[in-house]
Amino acid sequence: MRTKVGFLGAGRIARALAGGLVRGEDSWELFASSRTREGGEAFRKVLPQARLYPEERNRDLVRESDIVFLCVKPQEALGVLRQIRPVTAGKWIVSVAAGVSLAAIVSEVDPSARVVRAMPNLPSLIGQGVIPYCLGSGWEAADREWAQRLLKRFGYAVELEERLFPLATALIGCGPAYFCAFLAPLLRFAAESGLRTAEARGMVLATVSGAAALLKQSEVDPLEVVQESRTPGGITNAALSVLEEEGWQETLRRALDAAWSRAKALEEEA
Ligand SMILES: NC(=O)c1ccc[n+]([C@@H]2O[C@H](COP(=O)([O-])OP(=O)(O)OC[C@H]3O[C@@H](n4cnc5c(N)ncnc54)[C@H](OP(=O)(O)O)[C@@H]3O)[C@@H](O)[C@H]2O)c1
Repeated sequence: MRTKVGFLGAGRIARALAGGLVRGEDSWELFASSRTREGGEAFRKVLPQARLYPEERNRDLVRESDIVFLCVKPQEALGVLRQIRPVTAGKWIVSVAAGVSLAAIVSEVDPSARVVRAMPNLPSLIGQGVIPYCLGSGWEAADREWAQRLLKRFGYAVELEERLFPLATALIGCGPAYFCAFLAPLLRFAAESGLRTAEARGMVLATVSGAAALLKQSEVDPLEVVQESRTPGGITNAALSVLEEEGWQETLRRALDAAWSRAKALEEEA
Protein backbone atom coordinates (compact mmCIF):
# COMPACT_ATOMS: atom_id res chain seq x y z
CA MET A 1 0.00 0.00 0.00
CA ARG A 2 1.26 3.48 -0.83
CA THR A 3 1.91 6.05 1.89
CA LYS A 4 -0.10 9.20 1.37
CA VAL A 5 1.93 12.34 1.85
CA GLY A 6 0.54 15.87 1.67
CA PHE A 7 2.45 19.13 1.26
CA LEU A 8 0.80 22.28 2.59
CA GLY A 9 2.68 24.77 0.42
CA ALA A 10 4.12 23.72 -2.93
CA GLY A 11 7.14 26.03 -3.12
CA ARG A 12 10.90 25.53 -3.22
CA ILE A 13 11.38 23.33 -0.18
CA ALA A 14 8.17 21.36 -0.79
CA ARG A 15 9.39 20.48 -4.30
CA ALA A 16 12.80 19.44 -2.95
CA LEU A 17 11.26 17.27 -0.21
CA ALA A 18 8.65 15.67 -2.45
CA GLY A 19 11.30 14.96 -5.10
CA GLY A 20 13.65 13.49 -2.49
CA LEU A 21 10.90 11.34 -1.05
CA VAL A 22 9.81 9.64 -4.23
CA ARG A 23 13.28 9.13 -5.80
CA GLY A 24 12.96 5.90 -7.77
CA GLU A 25 10.12 4.55 -5.59
CA ASP A 26 6.50 4.11 -6.42
CA SER A 27 5.36 3.76 -2.82
CA TRP A 28 4.26 7.36 -2.23
CA GLU A 29 1.03 9.09 -3.18
CA LEU A 30 1.49 12.87 -3.24
CA PHE A 31 -0.82 15.82 -2.63
CA ALA A 32 0.14 19.48 -2.57
CA SER A 33 -1.68 22.72 -1.91
CA SER A 34 -0.76 26.26 -2.84
CA ARG A 35 -2.14 29.77 -2.66
CA THR A 36 -2.08 30.29 -6.43
CA ARG A 37 -2.63 28.01 -9.38
CA GLU A 38 0.88 28.79 -10.68
CA GLY A 39 2.39 27.57 -7.39
CA GLY A 40 0.66 24.22 -7.81
CA GLU A 41 1.66 23.91 -11.45
CA ALA A 42 5.33 24.54 -10.58
CA PHE A 43 5.09 21.64 -8.12
CA ARG A 44 3.47 19.38 -10.69
CA LYS A 45 6.22 20.16 -13.19
CA VAL A 46 8.63 18.35 -10.87
CA LEU A 47 6.11 15.83 -9.51
CA PRO A 48 3.62 15.18 -12.32
CA GLN A 49 1.86 12.47 -10.31
CA ALA A 50 0.84 14.88 -7.51
CA ARG A 51 -2.78 15.80 -6.91
CA LEU A 52 -3.18 19.58 -6.39
CA TYR A 53 -5.46 21.44 -3.99
CA PRO A 54 -6.21 25.16 -3.62
CA GLU A 55 -5.51 26.62 -0.15
CA GLU A 56 -9.25 26.66 0.68
CA ARG A 57 -9.12 22.85 0.54
CA ASN A 58 -6.14 22.36 2.85
CA ARG A 59 -8.39 20.32 5.15
CA ASP A 60 -9.24 17.90 2.33
CA LEU A 61 -5.53 17.47 1.62
CA VAL A 62 -4.88 16.63 5.28
CA ARG A 63 -7.82 14.22 5.41
CA GLU A 64 -6.31 12.37 2.42
CA SER A 65 -2.79 12.22 3.89
CA ASP A 66 -1.08 10.03 6.49
CA ILE A 67 1.89 12.39 6.72
CA VAL A 68 1.64 16.14 6.22
CA PHE A 69 4.60 18.43 5.53
CA LEU A 70 3.97 22.04 6.50
CA CYS A 71 5.93 24.01 3.90
CA VAL A 72 4.44 27.52 4.00
CA LYS A 73 6.28 30.68 5.06
CA PRO A 74 6.78 31.04 8.84
CA GLN A 75 4.26 33.91 9.00
CA GLU A 76 1.59 31.69 7.43
CA ALA A 77 2.28 28.52 9.39
CA LEU A 78 0.06 29.01 12.44
CA GLY A 79 -2.89 30.23 10.37
CA VAL A 80 -2.70 27.11 8.19
CA LEU A 81 -2.44 24.88 11.28
CA ARG A 82 -5.55 26.53 12.72
CA GLN A 83 -7.36 25.89 9.44
CA ILE A 84 -6.51 22.16 9.44
CA ARG A 85 -6.80 21.53 13.19
CA PRO A 86 -10.17 19.66 13.07
CA VAL A 87 -8.72 16.98 10.75
CA THR A 88 -5.31 16.43 12.36
CA ALA A 89 -6.22 13.59 14.76
CA GLY A 90 -3.68 10.77 14.40
CA LYS A 91 -1.74 12.51 11.60
CA TRP A 92 1.99 13.01 11.37
CA ILE A 93 2.73 16.70 10.96
CA VAL A 94 6.25 17.60 9.83
CA SER A 95 6.84 21.35 9.96
CA VAL A 96 9.85 22.82 8.19
CA ALA A 97 8.83 26.44 8.86
CA ALA A 98 11.78 28.38 10.26
CA GLY A 99 11.21 29.84 13.71
CA VAL A 100 7.93 28.02 14.44
CA SER A 101 8.44 26.08 17.68
CA LEU A 102 7.27 22.58 18.49
CA ALA A 103 5.16 24.03 21.32
CA ALA A 104 3.42 26.43 18.93
CA ILE A 105 2.70 23.64 16.44
CA VAL A 106 1.48 21.22 19.12
CA SER A 107 -0.86 23.86 20.55
CA GLU A 108 -2.56 24.27 17.14
CA VAL A 109 -3.18 20.59 16.25
CA ASP A 110 -5.15 17.70 17.72
CA PRO A 111 -3.44 16.21 20.82
CA SER A 112 -3.24 12.82 19.08
CA ALA A 113 -1.21 14.21 16.14
CA ARG A 114 2.49 13.45 16.19
CA VAL A 115 4.61 16.44 15.44
CA VAL A 116 8.09 16.77 13.96
CA ARG A 117 9.97 20.03 13.57
CA ALA A 118 12.70 19.82 10.94
CA MET A 119 15.10 22.12 9.09
CA PRO A 120 15.98 20.55 5.72
CA ASN A 121 18.00 22.01 2.89
CA LEU A 122 17.60 21.93 -0.87
CA PRO A 123 19.87 18.93 -1.73
CA SER A 124 17.10 16.87 -0.08
CA LEU A 125 15.84 16.72 -3.66
CA ILE A 126 18.54 14.20 -4.53
CA GLY A 127 18.71 12.51 -1.13
CA GLN A 128 21.85 14.44 -0.19
CA GLY A 129 20.34 17.02 2.07
CA VAL A 130 20.85 17.52 5.77
CA ILE A 131 17.78 17.46 7.99
CA PRO A 132 18.10 18.19 11.69
CA TYR A 133 14.83 17.42 13.48
CA CYS A 134 13.18 17.19 16.88
CA LEU A 135 10.03 15.37 17.92
CA GLY A 136 7.01 16.42 19.99
CA SER A 137 5.67 14.12 22.70
CA GLY A 138 3.76 10.87 22.23
CA TRP A 139 6.17 9.11 19.90
CA GLU A 140 6.47 5.33 20.50
CA ALA A 141 9.89 3.75 19.87
CA ALA A 142 8.75 2.04 16.64
CA ASP A 143 7.31 5.28 15.26
CA ARG A 144 10.48 7.17 16.19
CA GLU A 145 12.40 4.68 14.10
CA TRP A 146 9.95 5.12 11.24
CA ALA A 147 10.31 8.90 11.46
CA GLN A 148 14.09 8.57 11.28
CA ARG A 149 13.77 6.27 8.25
CA LEU A 150 11.38 8.68 6.54
CA LEU A 151 13.69 11.66 7.11
CA LYS A 152 16.70 9.68 5.89
CA ARG A 153 15.07 9.66 2.45
CA PHE A 154 16.29 13.27 2.31
CA GLY A 155 19.88 12.57 3.31
CA TYR A 156 21.61 13.03 6.65
CA ALA A 157 18.86 13.05 9.31
CA VAL A 158 20.00 13.99 12.77
CA GLU A 159 17.96 14.51 15.96
CA LEU A 160 18.88 17.88 17.43
CA GLU A 161 17.85 19.83 20.55
CA GLU A 162 15.27 22.41 19.60
CA ARG A 163 17.23 25.29 21.17
CA LEU A 164 19.85 24.76 18.43
CA PHE A 165 17.39 25.21 15.57
CA PRO A 166 18.20 28.88 14.85
CA LEU A 167 21.84 27.88 14.47
CA ALA A 168 20.90 24.89 12.29
CA THR A 169 18.78 27.21 10.16
CA ALA A 170 21.67 29.65 9.64
CA LEU A 171 24.14 26.86 8.81
CA ILE A 172 22.14 24.04 7.24
CA GLY A 173 18.91 25.50 5.87
CA CYS A 174 20.81 28.42 4.31
CA GLY A 175 24.08 26.54 3.72
CA PRO A 176 23.61 25.50 0.07
CA ALA A 177 23.01 29.15 -0.84
CA TYR A 178 26.33 30.22 0.71
CA PHE A 179 28.31 27.61 -1.19
CA CYS A 180 26.51 28.30 -4.45
CA ALA A 181 27.02 32.06 -3.99
CA PHE A 182 30.75 31.33 -3.63
CA LEU A 183 30.78 28.96 -6.62
CA ALA A 184 28.97 31.25 -9.05
CA PRO A 185 31.90 33.73 -9.40
CA LEU A 186 34.37 30.82 -9.67
CA LEU A 187 32.39 29.41 -12.60
CA ARG A 188 32.00 32.82 -14.19
CA PHE A 189 35.73 33.44 -13.87
CA ALA A 190 36.50 30.03 -15.40
CA ALA A 191 34.22 30.62 -18.37
CA GLU A 192 35.41 34.21 -18.95
CA SER A 193 39.03 33.10 -18.76
CA GLY A 194 38.82 30.50 -21.49
CA LEU A 195 37.35 27.24 -20.20
CA ARG A 196 34.25 25.90 -21.91
CA THR A 197 31.20 26.17 -19.59
CA ALA A 198 30.73 22.39 -19.31
CA GLU A 199 34.44 21.83 -18.64
CA ALA A 200 34.52 24.60 -16.06
CA ARG A 201 31.46 23.24 -14.29
CA GLY A 202 32.72 19.66 -14.31
CA MET A 203 36.17 20.51 -12.99
CA VAL A 204 35.13 23.11 -10.42
CA LEU A 205 32.35 20.93 -8.98
CA ALA A 206 34.66 17.91 -8.83
CA THR A 207 37.19 20.06 -6.98
CA VAL A 208 34.57 21.07 -4.41
CA SER A 209 33.22 17.57 -3.86
CA GLY A 210 36.81 16.23 -3.74
CA ALA A 211 37.72 18.72 -1.00
CA ALA A 212 34.56 17.83 0.96
CA ALA A 213 35.24 14.08 0.56
CA LEU A 214 38.81 14.55 1.77
CA LEU A 215 37.60 16.30 4.93
CA LYS A 216 34.92 13.67 5.47
CA GLN A 217 37.21 10.69 5.07
CA SER A 218 40.28 11.92 6.91
CA GLU A 219 38.65 14.17 9.55
CA VAL A 220 41.50 16.56 8.86
CA ASP A 221 41.04 20.21 9.91
CA PRO A 222 40.15 22.38 6.86
CA LEU A 223 42.95 24.81 7.78
CA GLU A 224 45.48 21.98 7.40
CA VAL A 225 44.31 21.50 3.82
CA VAL A 226 44.80 25.24 3.29
CA GLN A 227 48.33 25.03 4.67
CA GLU A 228 49.11 21.99 2.48
CA SER A 229 48.42 23.96 -0.68
CA ARG A 230 49.74 27.35 0.46
CA THR A 231 53.44 28.04 0.14
CA PRO A 232 54.98 31.51 0.57
CA GLY A 233 55.36 33.15 -2.84
CA GLY A 234 53.12 30.48 -4.37
CA ILE A 235 49.93 30.71 -6.38
CA THR A 236 47.37 29.72 -3.70
CA ASN A 237 49.09 32.18 -1.40
CA ALA A 238 48.58 34.97 -3.95
CA ALA A 239 44.82 34.39 -3.96
CA LEU A 240 44.42 33.88 -0.22
CA SER A 241 46.46 37.02 0.53
CA VAL A 242 43.96 39.12 -1.44
CA LEU A 243 41.02 37.51 0.40
CA GLU A 244 42.73 38.21 3.73
CA GLU A 245 43.52 41.82 2.83
CA GLU A 246 39.81 42.23 2.10
CA GLY A 247 38.90 40.76 5.51
CA TRP A 248 36.84 37.95 4.02
CA GLN A 249 36.82 35.85 7.20
CA GLU A 250 35.39 38.74 9.22
CA THR A 251 32.84 39.37 6.46
CA LEU A 252 31.75 35.74 6.49
CA ARG A 253 31.51 35.81 10.28
CA ARG A 254 29.26 38.89 10.10
CA ALA A 255 27.12 37.17 7.47
CA LEU A 256 26.66 34.09 9.68
CA ASP A 257 25.87 36.27 12.70
CA ALA A 258 23.26 38.10 10.60
CA ALA A 259 21.62 34.81 9.56
CA TRP A 260 21.68 33.48 13.11
CA SER A 261 20.18 36.72 14.52
CA ARG A 262 17.43 36.65 11.90
CA ALA A 263 16.66 33.00 12.71
CA LYS A 264 16.51 33.81 16.44
CA ALA A 265 14.25 36.80 15.79
CA LEU A 266 11.87 34.63 13.73
CA GLU A 267 11.67 32.25 16.69
CA GLU A 268 10.48 35.14 18.88
CA GLU A 269 8.08 36.58 16.28
CA ALA A 270 6.29 33.28 15.53
N1 LIG B 1 13.74 27.27 0.72
C1 LIG B 1 14.56 26.64 1.57
O1 LIG B 1 15.73 26.32 1.25
C2 LIG B 1 14.07 26.26 2.95
C3 LIG B 1 14.89 25.45 3.76
C4 LIG B 1 14.41 25.06 5.02
C5 LIG B 1 13.16 25.48 5.47
N2 LIG B 1 12.41 26.29 4.67
C6 LIG B 1 11.08 26.70 5.19
O2 LIG B 1 10.11 26.24 4.28
C7 LIG B 1 9.00 27.12 4.25
C8 LIG B 1 8.67 27.46 2.81
O3 LIG B 1 9.80 28.09 2.22
P1 LIG B 1 9.98 28.11 0.63
O4 LIG B 1 11.32 28.67 0.39
O5 LIG B 1 9.61 26.80 0.05
O6 LIG B 1 8.86 29.23 0.27
P2 LIG B 1 8.05 29.40 -1.09
O7 LIG B 1 8.83 28.89 -2.24
O8 LIG B 1 7.56 30.81 -1.09
O9 LIG B 1 6.79 28.42 -0.89
C9 LIG B 1 5.72 28.71 -0.03
C10 LIG B 1 4.52 27.96 -0.56
O10 LIG B 1 3.43 28.12 0.34
C11 LIG B 1 2.25 28.30 -0.45
N3 LIG B 1 1.20 28.86 0.39
C12 LIG B 1 1.10 30.11 0.92
N4 LIG B 1 -0.01 30.19 1.71
C13 LIG B 1 -0.61 28.96 1.67
C14 LIG B 1 -1.77 28.41 2.25
N5 LIG B 1 -2.57 29.13 3.06
N6 LIG B 1 -2.09 27.12 2.00
C15 LIG B 1 -1.31 26.37 1.17
N7 LIG B 1 -0.19 26.84 0.58
C16 LIG B 1 0.15 28.11 0.83
C17 LIG B 1 2.70 29.16 -1.58
O11 LIG B 1 1.76 29.13 -2.65
P3 LIG B 1 1.98 30.10 -3.94
O12 LIG B 1 3.22 29.58 -4.64
O13 LIG B 1 0.79 29.87 -4.74
O14 LIG B 1 2.14 31.48 -3.40
C18 LIG B 1 4.02 28.45 -1.92
O15 LIG B 1 3.76 27.33 -2.74
C19 LIG B 1 9.39 28.36 5.07
O16 LIG B 1 8.72 28.32 6.31
C20 LIG B 1 10.90 28.21 5.26
O17 LIG B 1 11.31 28.68 6.54
C21 LIG B 1 12.83 26.69 3.41
